Amino acid sequence: MEILSASKLPAQKNIALVFTAEIKPAPGIFSEAEMEYLEKMRKTHTEQWVEVNQYTRRAFVFFIAEDKSAHIRQEKMRRAGATLTGMLNKLKEKEITIAAEEFTLAVGEGAALANYQYLRYISKADKKNTLEKINLAGVPKKEAEELAIQVRNVCYARDLINTPVWDLNAQQLGESAAEAGKKLGFTVDVLNKKKIEALKMGGLLAVNKGSVDPPTFIIMEYKSAKAKNKKPIVLVGKGVVYDTGGLSLKPTVGMDEMKCDMSGAAAVIGTLSAVAEAKLPVHIIGLVPATDNRPGGNAVTPGDVITMSDGTTIEVMNTDAEGRLILADALHYAKKYKPELVIDLATLTGAAARAIGRYGIVAMGTATDEQWSALDESGDNTYERLVQFPFWDEYKDLLKSPIADMKNIGGTDAGAITAGKFLAHFTDYPYIHLDIAGPAFISEADGYQTKGATGIGVRLLFDFLKNY
Ligand code: BES
Ligand code: MN
Ligand code: ZN
Repeated sequence: MEILSASKLPAQKNIALVFTAEIKPAPGIFSEAEMEYLEKMRKTHTEQWVEVNQYTRRAFVFFIAEDKSAHIRQEKMRRAGATLTGMLNKLKEKEITIAAEEFTLAVGEGAALANYQYLRYISKADKKNTLEKINLAGVPKKEAEELAIQVRNVCYARDLINTPVWDLNAQQLGESAAEAGKKLGFTVDVLNKKKIEALKMGGLLAVNKGSVDPPTFIIMEYKSAKAKNKKPIVLVGKGVVYDTGGLSLKPTVGMDEMKCDMSGAAAVIGTLSAVAEAKLPVHIIGLVPATDNRPGGNAVTPGDVITMSDGTTIEVMNTDAEGRLILADALHYAKKYKPELVIDLATLTGAAARAIGRYGIVAMGTATDEQWSALDESGDNTYERLVQFPFWDEYKDLLKSPIADMKNIGGTDAGAITAGKFLAHFTDYPYIHLDIAGPAFISEADGYQTKGATGIGVRLLFDFLKNY
């Protein structure tokens, strides 16, 4: 998919126009009869695309209704872009130029993201979408380029997530990150099992114990010479390449979706890729502990007590609460950077999904008010919205173990928060935990979010770092 800036509307190629109060096209675009038709359609077809077939090209016109909030309007225009993509592909069109005033970027973003397909295992070539080029009229080149970078890396994250563990184990995830780093200009160091053992990462090793494939610990760094932050921002992503639950085995129904359990890792790798490609003036580190979670072999058992890299002992009550075990070692590792802020992304708990569904990200932590409001703002900008959950001390009491420093699950209530509290035990810096279990992977396409992986987190963090 190509996304380019265009200075003006083409004469004989497809165009998409958006109008609010009045239909005011550039001179020469519509004939008198077409204008009459559009005036009529405007009364009955608000918030829809109306097509004018001009023989040499198609013109799509969208009439906007009044709206309360700018963020909601931007989102509606992204969704309009997604609808446009559907129409264009159905008509087997290859190219569109969008001229939508202050909404051109939003329409283009939605159109481009909706055009994503995961075709790796589809043998028939005719399944491929025809749309391949989006021109953004009146958008400065730099903004069009940044959008292209963002879209490309959301799609990269989606690809990683949609790829089953058969073709993407912990090692292959590391290889993919290394390849991206080489291409886009950030450093990648993939620690192997020996090094992970030397670092005594007891959580990552315990979760990996029932696996045939070894774990990896992926360390990425991008440092601009013009970095605005003196101390790095560290992004940590849960990289469970497949979650069977381990000996606390999950039920069969829905288990296929557990290839999405490295969505946090994909968001971190995708964000580093986007930030490096756009050469943003920041210093960021990405950390991804990666393994599958399986029963078998010498798998960790419920009742086992393990020792984490910081020395904390954990009574493993449920091997399906594995994300927090691998993330704990990564969060401890992050201390050595003396970071300004650490954000982790993880498909951590079903409880987060049950609390707010797939419409937002469950967030909690110990960051400063300023950091919270900046991330919250990016959530609104990108519509990858945050809901901040309470993070009171009492929740940590639910993790008390009679035989170890902590156990790895709380009670039946507040499961997303007790998971967050478990993680916070391993931090000593301003920290935000993002539980993306709800929005990471969807069973049906919705607007510009295609079926399967959404790539959530990349747009949020790219926006956050752009505005940092
Ligand atoms: N990966 C799952 C959480 C998950 C559920 C992600 C649904 C995406 C969709 C996680 O490892 C898990 O199994 N969590 C358990 C924790 C419980 C045992 C305390 C859960 O939520 O049931
Ligand atoms: Mn699990
Ligand atoms: Zn999991």
